[in-house]
Amino acid sequence: MKSKEMSRRRFLGTAAAATAGVAMSGVSTPIFANSKDTSDKLALLGGKSVRGDKKWQGWPQWDEKFNSQMNEVMGNRVWSRSKKVTEFEKRWAEINGSKHCLTTVNGTNALSAAWMQSNIGPGDEVICSPYTFSASIFGILYKGAMPVFADIDPTTFQIDPEQIKKKITPRTKGILPVHICGYPSDMPTIMKIAKEHNLFVVEDACQAHLAEIGGKKVGTWGDAGCFSFQASKNLPIGEGGGILTDNTEYYDRLYSYHNFGYASGSVSGQISSITALILANKIRMAEYQAVIGLCQLEKLEEQHKIRNENGAYLNEKLAAYPGVSPVKLHKGATAASYYIYGMVYNEEKMQGVPRKRFIEALNAEGIPAGTGYPDDPLYGQPMLKEVFESDIYKKFYSPNELNFEEYKRKNHCPALIKTYNSSVWAWNGGLMLGTKSDMDDVINAVDKIHNNIAKLK
Ligand SMILES: Cc1ncc(COP(=O)(O)O)c(C=O)c1O
Repeated sequence: MKSKEMSRRRFLGTAAAATAGVAMSGVSTPIFANSKDTSDKLALLGGKSVRGDKKWQGWPQWDEKFNSQMNEVMGNRVWSRSKKVTEFEKRWAEINGSKHCLTTVNGTNALSAAWMQSNIGPGDEVICSPYTFSASIFGILYKGAMPVFADIDPTTFQIDPEQIKKKITPRTKGILPVHICGYPSDMPTIMKIAKEHNLFVVEDACQAHLAEIGGKKVGTWGDAGCFSFQASKNLPIGEGGGILTDNTEYYDRLYSYHNFGYASGSVSGQISSITALILANKIRMAEYQAVIGLCQLEKLEEQHKIRNENGAYLNEKLAAYPGVSPVKLHKGATAASYYIYGMVYNEEKMQGVPRKRFIEALNAEGIPAGTGYPDDPLYGQPMLKEVFESDIYKKFYSPNELNFEEYKRKNHCPALIKTYNSSVWAWNGGLMLGTKSDMDDVINAVDKIHNNIAKLK
């Protein structure tokens, strides 16, 4: 037996049990029908890369046929919020099965507006997912409330409802689940907890367009669901955001808030339309942004289908590799958005080869991947220290509550830290829209690295 084959057999032996559908009887049979000989020299060590010079689909995408729609809005010189924005909002609400959608300038401001128009305030606590970044919690801090972090389930990357329960106190007023990487959080359980304790729920669905649980879209479970339409997202506008809600009075306040506090629906009075009725902001989407959004919506549902087919294929095939576990969809999740394809790297099962080295090897094979968020947890970021030192926070919280070291200790999330050190995010916008053969390249790259792992030590 050739030594190449030998190492492959040994590897398959260890991987065997994990995968259904992998032919194990003839061990020298490639795992995949269309597999290449992936025992070749690693590209990182001077071998030929799996991808060669094949390109991934670029992102964001713009079709020639959309030019006429864009030219029309530019030519008619109505560029500020008007019919196109309303049309986009109507479509996004319909697609998601929500009563209302309000667009904003970006996802950060969608989240901030959602909290600004909630009843939470100084002294209140909001339980947040820590697996995200600063934009998710700005709005909570604008209201003078305290973010409290509940750890994640490292197999799904999502906030763990059992950990939420442990963090509830008489001061808890809200929950912020973040559907990170586009995988749905366990909303049925989170909403059950929210109902029991009368909590306001804002979903950060900025990465999770069209993800769903039991057929119900994320962003429609909580009191508000916030989306980002930033250029890298699955519904890319460049910049843009949206808030979904079924609560008409809340929507009226959001509308008024995003438009200088002017009258809107139930936010009304016997006054001129340019009188501010509520403390507000101006965060309106422009017409040309809405046109980009409407054009992208023509493609989104088909793209979503492809991403989910590719996600299911990668999940099934990569389960053969004990050192690289695909992120799991929790029970009940019926679709992810696969904004990012998440994996958990197990260094021990990869002969001690560090994750960064594995990622370098993947990149060299032509697979776009990185480590994900850096290992500076949100609850340890300096902006919180700065907020805690502000006069307004000092008015409402005790010195002990504002002791940053103590805060970090209380909010420490071990599973999050484990995830920071083991996650692998494969993404570049177009990756998950690839063909089956593109997905085979991802699998073959992992296979090749597995077969040659000892050489990376
Ligand atoms: C999880 C999450 N929350 C919030 C945001 C903020 O969205 P935006 O960049 O549109 O302001 C993003 C986008 O980067 C995000 O990924």
